[in-house]
Amino acid sequence: MNPRNSRQFGRWKAALIGSALLLALPSAMPAAATTAPGASAASGQEQFRKLYLGSAWYPEQWPEERWAEDLRLMQAHGANVVRIGEFAWSAMEPTEGAYDLGWLVRAVRLAAKYDIKVVIGTPTDTPPAWMTQKYPEVLRIDGDGKRLGHGGRRQFSISDPHYRPLSREIVSRMAQALGHEPNVIGWQIGNEYTDESYDPAAKAGWIDWLKDRYGTLDKLNDAWTTQYWSQTYSDWNQVPFNTEKGNPGLMLEQKRYITGQWVAFQKNQIDAIRAHALPAQFITTNLGGLGWANRFDRYAINRDLDFASWDNYVGTGHLQPYRNGASHDLVRGWKRKNFWVMEIQPGFVNWAPVSNMLYPGETRAMAWQAIGHGADGILYWQWRNALNGQETMHGSILGPDGKPLPVYDEVVRIGREMARATPVLAGTAPVSPVAILQDYPSRWTIDFQPHHKDYDQIGVLLDYYAPLKDALGSVDIVEADGPLDRYKLVVAPNLAILTPDMTARLSAFVKAGGHLILGPRSGQRDAYDRLQPRRQPGPLADLLGGQVEQFYALDEPVAVGTGTARIWAEDLTAKAPDTQVLLRYGKANGWLDGHAAALTRQVGKGRITYVGALIDPDLMKTLIDDALKGAGVARDFAVPADVELMTRQGDGRSIVILINHGKEARSVTLPETMTDILEGGTKQAVTLGAEGVAVLQRGTDK
Ligand code: GLA
Repeated sequence: MNPRNSRQFGRWKAALIGSALLLALPSAMPAAATTAPGASAASGQEQFRKLYLGSAWYPEQWPEERWAEDLRLMQAHGANVVRIGEFAWSAMEPTEGAYDLGWLVRAVRLAAKYDIKVVIGTPTDTPPAWMTQKYPEVLRIDGDGKRLGHGGRRQFSISDPHYRPLSREIVSRMAQALGHEPNVIGWQIGNEYTDESYDPAAKAGWIDWLKDRYGTLDKLNDAWTTQYWSQTYSDWNQVPFNTEKGNPGLMLEQKRYITGQWVAFQKNQIDAIRAHALPAQFITTNLGGLGWANRFDRYAINRDLDFASWDNYVGTGHLQPYRNGASHDLVRGWKRKNFWVMEIQPGFVNWAPVSNMLYPGETRAMAWQAIGHGADGILYWQWRNALNGQETMHGSILGPDGKPLPVYDEVVRIGREMARATPVLAGTAPVSPVAILQDYPSRWTIDFQPHHKDYDQIGVLLDYYAPLKDALGSVDIVEADGPLDRYKLVVAPNLAILTPDMTARLSAFVKAGGHLILGPRSGQRDAYDRLQPRRQPGPLADLLGGQVEQFYALDEPVAVGTGTARIWAEDLTAKAPDTQVLLRYGKANGWLDGHAAALTRQVGKGRITYVGALIDPDLMKTLIDDALKGAGVARDFAVPADVELMTRQGDGRSIVILINHGKEARSVTLPETMTDILEGGTKQAVTLGAEGVAVLQRGTDK
């Protein structure tokens, strides 16, 4: 195959743009997963029938005689899965068109002898040197217009029409070689999608995407209000495409277009795999960035995958239970089902400002926290560090001598415990009556114009999450554009953009008896990032029976209710007679004195509440506790400070996982006798030391 063949380029260009069009309109984003050819219902199920533990292994970096010893040591710590291949393009295709996949097949078959299943990574994160030399166009161009060189990774262009067929060809070859290997359970596409490209093909695709979305430049000029600063475009090619801070309307659309580029880049490989592989082999990808990264829309990426995966790293310091737990919940929400942690740190990383070791027991606590939030697979990065390369200082399980490092014993314990817990945990998942809504376009627009340097959207979400999590074993974090009927209480902390579809869904939720809580900045903008012509919450103002008169970035705290607001405060007015003031500012900045900070209104059996300020944790706890009570959400049993309660249900079983994230021992009184899965026996109370974990099954006294 010659990627320079111009007829093929034409076909690829059409495919590129065609896939991008799936994302053309926010309302046109498909809600259901696209079923790839050859996929069946069986695909992507096996990984939920047991818990998987393993690591990333790079057999191409070691003599083949060594592989058996690696696999033996993996099996000895309880590993039952390994991920291989994701950076090994130069070993799979050492020169153009000369493939060597035999070593991969041999590694897969050898792993089978040790009862270790294999996830195959496609190597498109690291194009080989012969390729970047011969086809320099595959190297991406950054937002400043500079083309990247060889020697690192992520230097490829997701949009370049040469790179798509080259990627498709290697992945097809891999799928032909491995798609029917019984020991291969699934595939990971690429690795930690990150950087888009600003090359000529990407720019041409952008212009075509805009033409398709808007039809005429008049419509585009109108949506972006280009009369402002004389931006009016009279030719499509005048529209910029770069990373400069430009018109927010343009920047929002650019995010959607780039999301579409990633979706198409990924779909190209999914189709190659599905054309040859057994339907039972799952397809996922590992999204990085501590879960909250938002360069592109993660919901869109996950629609074509069987399940979501992410890479859970702490970096400097120690596990932050709420932030990390919420990241797991966010990832579970990408597909609304259990997920895998495709990479987790074995003690420490190499890229943080201080790449410190976790405390003894904390590596184990991290694994159990992931499982408690819905992970069914956990893989360490990495098994053994290469003897050279950019990551020789990273935490690993084996040392340069090929023998276990101190963390190995903790990994052995995790393996033993996961094997013990598999029979009760397989088929269970976190289930919650409460959801927090998350929306990438809203995140982007607040990022574009934050208005206060300390306005941290994830922090705002966590302000709501923490008291909800304290009350419940499980909290969902889901897409603002999805179904809400299973929830009693829904919180939208940062929903700055409200589309007509979202407005209809949220209104229907309230009218059907749910309680909706909106946070500050809600409903300020439309899908094009335009200010709504109605005051906040824009299209939901009528349902609320009230509106925001003015928002204020705070340079000093203001009194609100029995507490304090910081960073942000909005002045609210009730407009309907039955809309009540829930919170009032005290003596504040003059503008806010005595005015409403939060409104609430009963609508049939439902309720809508608007909270216009960023309030302190005590006040938030009162607000959330009242909301849970009002919405009829039963609290789970109480646990002491530092102890996290997580729950999973399914297959008629109800599982409780407890972790003591603190340094002092804690005793937890259980509300009923439970079976202790890790230690055996039944318990009415458990004592957890620092980083202690208990896995318990309810219902054993019945
Ligand atoms: C990322 C990558 C891995 C490795 C780790 C190191 O998650 O996917 O290849 O570089 O970081 O922490």
